[in-house]
Amino acid sequence: MELGSLKVSDIGLGAWQAGGRAWTVDKSELLKAYRRAFELGINFVDTAEIYGWGESERFVGEAVRGYDVVVATKVAGFHWGRVEKSAKASLARLGRIDLLQLHWPPPVYVPLCRVVRELERLKEAGLTSEIGVSNFDARLLRRASECLKRHEIVSDQIEYNPLNRAADAEEFRKTAEELEVKIIAWSPLAKGAALGKWGPDRARSMDPAFKKASTEAGRRVVEAVKAVAQRRGVSPAAVVLAWLRHRGVLPIPGVKNAVQAEDVAGALRLQLPEDDLRLLDEATAPFVAGRVGMGGIRYVPGFLQKLALKLYPV
Ligand SMILES: NC(=O)c1ccc[n+]([C@@H]2O[C@H](COP(=O)([O-])OP(=O)(O)OC[C@H]3O[C@@H](n4cnc5c(N)ncnc54)[C@H](OP(=O)(O)O)[C@@H]3O)[C@@H](O)[C@H]2O)c1
Repeated sequence: MELGSLKVSDIGLGAWQAGGRAWTVDKSELLKAYRRAFELGINFVDTAEIYGWGESERFVGEAVRGYDVVVATKVAGFHWGRVEKSAKASLARLGRIDLLQLHWPPPVYVPLCRVVRELERLKEAGLTSEIGVSNFDARLLRRASECLKRHEIVSDQIEYNPLNRAADAEEFRKTAEELEVKIIAWSPLAKGAALGKWGPDRARSMDPAFKKASTEAGRRVVEAVKAVAQRRGVSPAAVVLAWLRHRGVLPIPGVKNAVQAEDVAGALRLQLPEDDLRLLDEATAPFVAGRVGMGGIRYVPGFLQKLALKLYPV
């Protein structure tokens, strides 16, 4: 897949787990997982300054050293006044930034163009190769694109998984296609909910995906994923990732160990036949309803957003 000038594998890795605050994880296992994934052809890693307040970025900086990997990070949405300072701190932790994204839209009282043009300026200054956004709905994505004259927004990172297909609603899909913005799918496995898995991690207890998975429609999704997995002799996670790949989005699963990394890399080559894809499309159709992005957060003042993340780090 191409994100502007960046050539990336059709599946990447999400490094929230490496922040260590919302997830239970063994860092040495995680490092082995990343190295294994790189050896098997995965070359895209996504992180963010707020994941463990720099801890995930430091981990990614170490994990990618010596490998030819495309590194994406995200500056927090409350940094509208100091995007450059924040991005430079991320760069120091990572060693390189190939894709710089705004983690969520800025508060309503901030002119969107001011923030997006700041990203454009950082690209021109050579701090990053490409720029992107995250959690932007169709309207915000269009407004943000219209702010820019010299460069393009190459990606919008949004939640997209079998239990949340809001991005398949016509308005969003059409806008993204027209603007040639690629979709990076966060929580592609719905934190395990789409596989019928659960775990004690705090990130999971905060996520409505598990409630959705326990509804009748949600149970049908999990059953469909498991049925395809059994038929093809692969894991449920591989099925979900292959289905997402087929839908043209870039999934970034958060692996925890080398076994999961191998499984994820195996999904790079997994081709599901038409009847399996149709079964998954139909089972997940009820989850096209819903909203893309984090609209509500725009009404929370930036300093309160930051305070909440200081009190409850992720
Ligand atoms: N932009 C945003 O606002 C935003 C928000 C959330 C996440 N993200 C990004 O998206 C990435 C992924 O999302 P996520 O971590 O929330 O959820 P996810 O990738 O859907 O689920 C992660 C969990 O799934 C399990 N798993 C991973 N690979 C597996 C495999 N092959 N087989 C079975 N289980 C497997 C692991 O947990 P167990 O081993 O414990 O089962 C792991 O912790 C994050 O790391 C982050 O980079 C971005």
